[in-house]
Amino acid sequence: MPDIVVPLEDELGDVLEKAIRGCKLSVDDVAREAGISRDKLGDAMDYRSELTCAELECLAKVVHLNEVGLCALAQGKYPLPDIPGLPFSLECLRMPHGVGVANAYLISVPGESSGLLFDTGPSFTALQSHWPKNLKKVEAVFLTHLEAEHAGGLCDVVDCFGVPSVYVPQGSQAPCGEALDDGDAMHCGDFEVTAYSTPGHCSSHYCYRVCLLNGSNGRREVLISGDLIFAGSAGGGYFCCQQQQKNLQRILAVCPEQAVIAPGHGPLSTVGHERRFNPFVN
Ligand SMILES: [Fe+2]
Repeated sequence: MPDIVVPLEDELGDVLEKAIRGCKLSVDDVAREAGISRDKLGDAMDYRSELTCAELECLAKVVHLNEVGLCALAQGKYPLPDIPGLPFSLECLRMPHGVGVANAYLISVPGESSGLLFDTGPSFTALQSHWPKNLKKVEAVFLTHLEAEHAGGLCDVVDCFGVPSVYVPQGSQAPCGEALDDGDAMHCGDFEVTAYSTPGHCSSHYCYRVCLLNGSNGRREVLISGDLIFAGSAGGGYFCCQQQQKNLQRILAVCPEQAVIAPGHGPLSTVGHERRFNPFVN
């Protein structure tokens, strides 16, 4: 299941901007502490980086980033892992939204016509244009968070498919659905889904671990990570940078190495890979 043609969500400039904001330092302070010129750092944040790896290592120390991942990102060589085979189907629906792309995911047993939907994309029209023909029924919808690019199609999906179960983050202003608590585990069809409250990007944000019930191939699983973690980056801590970082570390610690990360933006990755390379993990 290679996933190498999908561009990363963030470039070096995005990662530096998020990291500097998270440290509550000014760009001037970071440049001075890292011993590089303010203009050079400004250029890097403006997607015109001429920073050397030695300079990036100094920057990484000041803003607490993983220097290996940061240098790889700066060189356009952030590695992506081979995605391990899963004992079920994971389909990514990549939908354009503004200047970016938002991901929703369908998880199902191969050959069956029903599945679980994680996030609903910017609109039902966008979702329909990427919808696989074989999937006729949605057993449950799970939302990571209520931003328009991830939950825009919710009401229409529920109406169109007659979805019996909708699960939303505790504290979110969803138009429908049952609010989950941290650690809630549910059996949905052939799957077990465990919810984790992961505020930081926004005040109500959840991740979901999904595995087959009674799977004969061990607990190979998927982490639906929303805007908590991306391949090579993390969501902006617009609600709270400290909580975002704490939850990122927590989720990577509790999930197994082989778990496939299915993020709200960008390509798939694995927990083990992001533990090693993600700039925000050190
Ligand atoms: Fe997003």
